[in-house]
Amino acid sequence: FGIWGEGAAIEVAEKLIVGLRRLEYRGYDSSGIAFDVFDVSSSSSKRTMVVKEVGNIDKLSERLALTVQDEKTASLDFESVTRGHAAIAHTRWATHGIPSTVNSHPHLVRDSVGDVEFAVVHNGIITNYRGLKDFLIAQGLEFESDTDTEVIPKLCKYIYDGYTESQRGKVSFRELVSQVVGELEGAFALLFKSKHFPGELVGCKCGSPLLLGIKSEGDQGDGHTFVRQNSGCVDRLEESETDFYFASDASAIVEHTKRVVILEDNDVVHLKEGGYSIFTLEKGSRNTAPSLNDPSLLRQTNRMLQTLEMGVEQIMKGGYSHFMIKEIHEQPDALIETMRGRILLQTARRGSLSSLKEVDRSSESLRVLDSVRDLSLDSIRALGSGMSSDFDQAPCIKLGGLEDYVDNIMRSRRLIFIACGTSYHACLAARQLVEELTCVPVTLELASDLLDRQAPLFRDDTCVFVSQSGETADTLNALKYAKHKGALCLGITNTVGSSISRETDCGVHVNAGVEIGVASTKAYTCQILVIVMIALKLSEDSISKMPRRQEILRDLLNLPSMMKKVLEKESLIKELAKELASENSLLAFGRGYNYATAMELALKVKELSYMHSEGILAGELKHGPLALIDETMPAVVVATRDSLREKMWSTIQQLLARKGRLVLLVSKDDDEIIGHFSGNKNVRLIEVDTVCDCLQPVLNIVPFQLLSYHLTILRGYNVDQPRNLAKSVTVE
Ligand code: G6P
Repeated sequence: FGIWGEGAAIEVAEKLIVGLRRLEYRGYDSSGIAFDVFDVSSSSSKRTMVVKEVGNIDKLSERLALTVQDEKTASLDFESVTRGHAAIAHTRWATHGIPSTVNSHPHLVRDSVGDVEFAVVHNGIITNYRGLKDFLIAQGLEFESDTDTEVIPKLCKYIYDGYTESQRGKVSFRELVSQVVGELEGAFALLFKSKHFPGELVGCKCGSPLLLGIKSEGDQGDGHTFVRQNSGCVDRLEESETDFYFASDASAIVEHTKRVVILEDNDVVHLKEGGYSIFTLEKGSRNTAPSLNDPSLLRQTNRMLQTLEMGVEQIMKGGYSHFMIKEIHEQPDALIETMRGRILLQTARRGSLSSLKEVDRSSESLRVLDSVRDLSLDSIRALGSGMSSDFDQAPCIKLGGLEDYVDNIMRSRRLIFIACGTSYHACLAARQLVEELTCVPVTLELASDLLDRQAPLFRDDTCVFVSQSGETADTLNALKYAKHKGALCLGITNTVGSSISRETDCGVHVNAGVEIGVASTKAYTCQILVIVMIALKLSEDSISKMPRRQEILRDLLNLPSMMKKVLEKESLIKELAKELASENSLLAFGRGYNYATAMELALKVKELSYMHSEGILAGELKHGPLALIDETMPAVVVATRDSLREKMWSTIQQLLARKGRLVLLVSKDDDEIIGHFSGNKNVRLIEVDTVCDCLQPVLNIVPFQLLSYHLTILRGYNVDQPRNLAKSVTVE
């Protein structure tokens, strides 16, 4: 996070802390800030102050307060308001080196009297840092940390010290940065400040996300005057009363301004004297020895100014104790947002002019969705069984980002879904339906494994990249690999403007809203929904699939209200969590559509509550896992009604025969199972509504999201900040 703007040093520092709080979900091992203060005892007036601390942002905030008290006695002025503060901040998810003050950012190089010459914050990874470090050590530079990042400020100094006296006056900060960046390999978003370039800030990116927020006085998204070039692009602001913000994602910017530039790879942004300019590091100039006399190194460029659609409330907890529980309860609305504008219901009656009533994005139309749902359910059902008296045609799916690609996708040799973590489980949940409706072979790949194997991909494959953040390094690298192989690349992300959404050929945004809890919840259920809608879209021309499509469409519209009913079970789930809280292990069994439910349940439980948990395909029970079962081992069985219910019944019997302690997720209308197990003290029942089989995983995961949440609270851990994890993993 970075700021260029006006204020007292203490205000700027506090703004940095707030910015880091918004980004804390991306990493929280340690953090640090660098900002300018006035040194009233010295004629050189401004000095860079650096504050770092191990742990979360609260710890940094405490450290800042102590530092200010201490340093005040040393005659530093934190109160005078000035323009041109250039300040940077970072919250870390450790990759190279343990979480410690010395390994936390900003990384620095100091001059002989201890003043900070260069300060750098970095998101990503520098893969060639070892060679650079050896070289710089040989040149006499000293290192203090174990990080890859520290080579960057040291490289700044090495290059800057190599300038002649006359060059020093001429070389701009961005030129120096571009020379440094030219030596780096890997993925990075970087912010630089320097005492040699006071009041200036440079940001650049290659492979890791970086946004520039632009706030002019009175700017609340109300059409302030910008200098526009090439219709719709801005180059530089005329106003001097402008503040700028750099951040890895929009959540740290939105409370200041909604105007952002989403930076592209190789962009170098220079903030100076209240204006900004963007340059592109010319292709080929990175990793070659750049020459200062070579003016082609940086080419000035224009980037589109965009308006953020998110609101500030999306990044707040809004009365909930944690982001995770807020996001779990947001799911009915998130499902509606994901469907909004995408399900077209033909409302013209026979004999009248046909028109499509679109469930569009305005709140007015949300009511349309509700009324259309009530009005048309019978008609939709009638369509499912053949002809409707009310409608000429079936409802259809509109996915703007796919419309031109449907034929190409349907001609593919294979559909290959590629993702990591929870996003992978969403693919697992929806795979069977995609196969069924498209009749195209579907395979799933964990992105890291696809890359490790360098798996064969072909020009007639369609690769589908699913990622909440749209920035996960493994998935992004797999995308680059698939593009290189010539496959058609489709993106499903929850983050507009993310790298995956920009670099894929076509795609669908999830629209679940900002997700901040590290453990993904609403993005998961909405990702499944998106893949279901894609399958419906791709099969639109198939007459034989029509009844099946109608069945799914009908239940899609009912899903939000059914989800609300599952959420009403929270107190029951809390009681169950109390029973399980002191266990060491929890197994989860599912098959078919609900293999994904078992896998996702186990991931949630282990990543949040640190209880060992394993998701197991019920069909594999006899081939090993049964050995784990005894009267002490709790096991969850997902046994809601679908074509595999009888097989799940036999799984339950086998577990009970080994005295297993069971939690059964069953359909509310399954009297046989409920009747059989009510009153059995070894069995707990959770009942949910029955919905179309392919949508059942969307409902089924909700009790287990709640279970993992309450288990974690009861076991005394931080549900929004599970240890060692981060929301957006932008390193391989
Ligand atoms: C991290 C997060 C998970 C997430 C996974 C994939 O591991 O902690 O919650 O499922 O990355 O993230 P993506 O943004 O690609 O869906």
